[in-house]
Amino acid sequence: MNQTSPPSLLFHRLWRLLRFSLLALLTLIVLYGVARIIDVSLGSVYSGTRGPYLQMPSDSAITVRWQTLEKTPGTVRYGRDRDRLEMQATERMAAIEHRVRIKGLLPLTKYYYRIVTRNPVLNKTYSFVTAASTGSNAGLRFWVTGDEGYRNPVQTEVKQTAWQWLERHPRPGRGLIDFWLTTGDNAYPAGTNKQFQQNFFLPYADVLSRYVVWPTYGNHDARRSPFFDIFSPPTRAESGGTASHTKHYYSFDDGELHVVMMDSEGSSLAKGSKMLRWMEADLKATRQPWRIVVMHHPPYTHGGHNSDHRRDSHGRMFKIRENFVPVFERLGVDMVLSGHSHDYERSYAIACHYGDSSTWKESYIQDKTSPYRKGAGTIYMVIGSSSKLDDGPLDHPALPVSLKQSGSVIIDIKQNMLTSRFINKQGEIADEFQIVKDHNSRPPGARHCE
Ligand SMILES: [Fe+2]
Repeated sequence: MNQTSPPSLLFHRLWRLLRFSLLALLTLIVLYGVARIIDVSLGSVYSGTRGPYLQMPSDSAITVRWQTLEKTPGTVRYGRDRDRLEMQATERMAAIEHRVRIKGLLPLTKYYYRIVTRNPVLNKTYSFVTAASTGSNAGLRFWVTGDEGYRNPVQTEVKQTAWQWLERHPRPGRGLIDFWLTTGDNAYPAGTNKQFQQNFFLPYADVLSRYVVWPTYGNHDARRSPFFDIFSPPTRAESGGTASHTKHYYSFDDGELHVVMMDSEGSSLAKGSKMLRWMEADLKATRQPWRIVVMHHPPYTHGGHNSDHRRDSHGRMFKIRENFVPVFERLGVDMVLSGHSHDYERSYAIACHYGDSSTWKESYIQDKTSPYRKGAGTIYMVIGSSSKLDDGPLDHPALPVSLKQSGSVIIDIKQNMLTSRFINKQGEIADEFQIVKDHNSRPPGARHCE
């Protein structure tokens, strides 16, 4: 007679329960994986009309991008006379997401363009102005927004007040701005293609059809994959600077300005990392006097995010401070623009601060009053309140200007002066400062660290 003793029966039941639990867990993991793949794929699809928008500018070329419902080879007609668009550029292959590169243009020159299509949304005459040649001192004006990817009344008001200011302060013979730059988180909550359409392309359509946008990659953009398909960054130095051979980080020149666009979310921030080595080589190679670095995560912030907390944002703010900030200082970076905290925070011209806020010393201030002498130190800005405001202590000792105000920034470079203005949602200039480049300017790397 085959009898199972009580202990072995218990073991048998436990074993069955364990097997069942493991199987249920495995099924759940597989189902979650499938749901995630479907979600990511569907989120990446936006099958409507988009654009036009402008990418990868230089003093002789620009890329016009747009999206159509049907697959066709895209054609753009363009010329300097609005009523006679006598030139034409066409894509080699039929596409839905169109990229037409227009070459052979003159620097700092206005061109009109029209997409050849029967689609009434796209079939309009737009215009763009080519970039200034590298080293040209023609002056420059650009608009900076950060974390602007919520479609809400704040986003509308911030945009309106900045553009009203621009219209009240035009530059003779020049466009209202030369380009638009973002500090990241361009389409909340997850950077899907549909969210980019709703929260970015629709509300900013008028800006995008006339001015180049340089978008920074934020953590919310990184939750889905379309960001690097939607935009066409210059990976082979098409807009100046040193070729990066990746869409994640790159640099560009416009007039006397050199801008380094970094990926603080998806690329390694470790010592010796590829991005850090490329950035060092790029900054060493540039001869441009004005140098700005843009990255989503700020090295210093006491806002919605806290740069003192090692677990905040996976320690990215710590790594930037420890590994990148010394390079910014050594290679003469004038300003670092970031977002991530939904507020506005700004330092004096500072150097040497690589620890958390408890290690801050007043002696790290290299220049306390505007106009700051170029080369005295680096100015760090958090520009992250272009569509949402968050609570935070706003008391970082390195950031004497810390405002819980929605807004955006307009930066002018004219002759030897850089002027930065934070225009709040009410249309007031809530912060303004200058950096001056003259015989008192210190060479990059000269700093006082005691
Ligand atoms: Fe963020």
